[in-house]
Amino acid sequence: MNFQRVHHVKGEVRVPGDKSISHRAVMFGALAKGTTAVTNFLQGADCLSTISCFQQMGIPIENNGNEVLIHGKGLHGLSMPQQPLDVGNSGTTMRLMSGILAGQEFKSVLTGDASIQKRPMGRVIDPLSQMGAGIVSVPGNGCAPLQIRGGSLTGIHYHSKVASAQVKSAILLAGLYADGTTTVTEPQLSRNHTELMLRMFGAQISSQDTTVTIQPEPKLDGRMIQVPGDISSAAYFIAAALMIPCSEVRIRNVGINPTRDGILRVCREMGADITLEHISDTDGEPAADLVVRYSRLHGTVIGGSIIPALIDELPMLAVLACFAEGTTIIRDAQELKVKESNRIDVMVQNLTAMGARIQGTEDGMIIEGGVPLHGAVIDSRLDHRIAMSFAIAGLASDGTTQILGSDCVNISYPGFYADLRKLTL
Ligand code: S3P
Repeated sequence: MNFQRVHHVKGEVRVPGDKSISHRAVMFGALAKGTTAVTNFLQGADCLSTISCFQQMGIPIENNGNEVLIHGKGLHGLSMPQQPLDVGNSGTTMRLMSGILAGQEFKSVLTGDASIQKRPMGRVIDPLSQMGAGIVSVPGNGCAPLQIRGGSLTGIHYHSKVASAQVKSAILLAGLYADGTTTVTEPQLSRNHTELMLRMFGAQISSQDTTVTIQPEPKLDGRMIQVPGDISSAAYFIAAALMIPCSEVRIRNVGINPTRDGILRVCREMGADITLEHISDTDGEPAADLVVRYSRLHGTVIGGSIIPALIDELPMLAVLACFAEGTTIIRDAQELKVKESNRIDVMVQNLTAMGARIQGTEDGMIIEGGVPLHGAVIDSRLDHRIAMSFAIAGLASDGTTQILGSDCVNISYPGFYADLRKLTL
């Protein structure tokens, strides 16, 4: 797909439901007794993979294209899947499911696409093995497919080396089936949707700083869940409005959980004009309308404990930094290397092709802003966040930007190009 400079982005947009929250609603709904009704569910490929995995384990799920009904059978209601469970491209599905499967008496296999088969799973294999699960990497390289034989778990206190909500959640979910309490301490606080939502379903779970503790065998009850818009999807429109002169967009009902709002904090630090209106709170998940206006930005340093709160937005922030005066340093973000692609290498390669002054480092990037970008052929590596970041870059650059593999946006935002086009009219 090709992109050219636009005069402005203007108008209103409603981004689809949050990906992390949509996954969890299906998973926890399946483990609860009774029906869970989810509105504004993200109909992206990743979340549809989660639905199909639970259907394969005997959970009836109805999806009418917006609302999803999950008819949960309780903590011990899953049945053995007859085939390997295919998570597609979804790291959240693979890692959270590995925690759930670690608690099941049956044998299962988790597999997925070429990208997921390259991503590190040792980070869940280690703690789940310590809890007593039989979980192995079938190819023996710490990657999927994973074979899991669960049951008879012991609660542990795990000190994770990475601030990862996927790792934390996998351990907490296994903790539902352990004897005794299970505790996870992480180096920095990662997104806390699991803690917030499991508590709403009836789990006994407590958090202090970067430590979370869960008690086993709770009675989880089906409930209503309203999914707020995904701030990771809003990020592309936030950046477009900030980068393209004369722009102003209103993005409705965006989740602004403090463990996810790093992009707002960083953009404001860079000089962005962003206001929040109609702030609401549903089940502990705050949301707001974001009004974003074109702003003259300056470079900044992004590192330390804010990184988990904006990890998925770093590709877009790297593009934005090209449009800010001065230097931007992104550090402490080595996790970027093990996302759907190596996002340090892929950003450096593609932004360099567009004429940016950017250098990759061991744990991030250094970007000299204020150099105009020009169109180029962009290899998305089938990474949805790369494709969307460069679509925005293309709207603010000379010439034509051609994105290869542009359909991969269906992973997290199926209507992305249509919504973007409406803002450029
Ligand atoms: C997610 C956690 C993050 C994030 C991913 C979704 C989640 O991954 O990058 O897109 O829903 O828990 P890590 O836990 O690996 O940091």
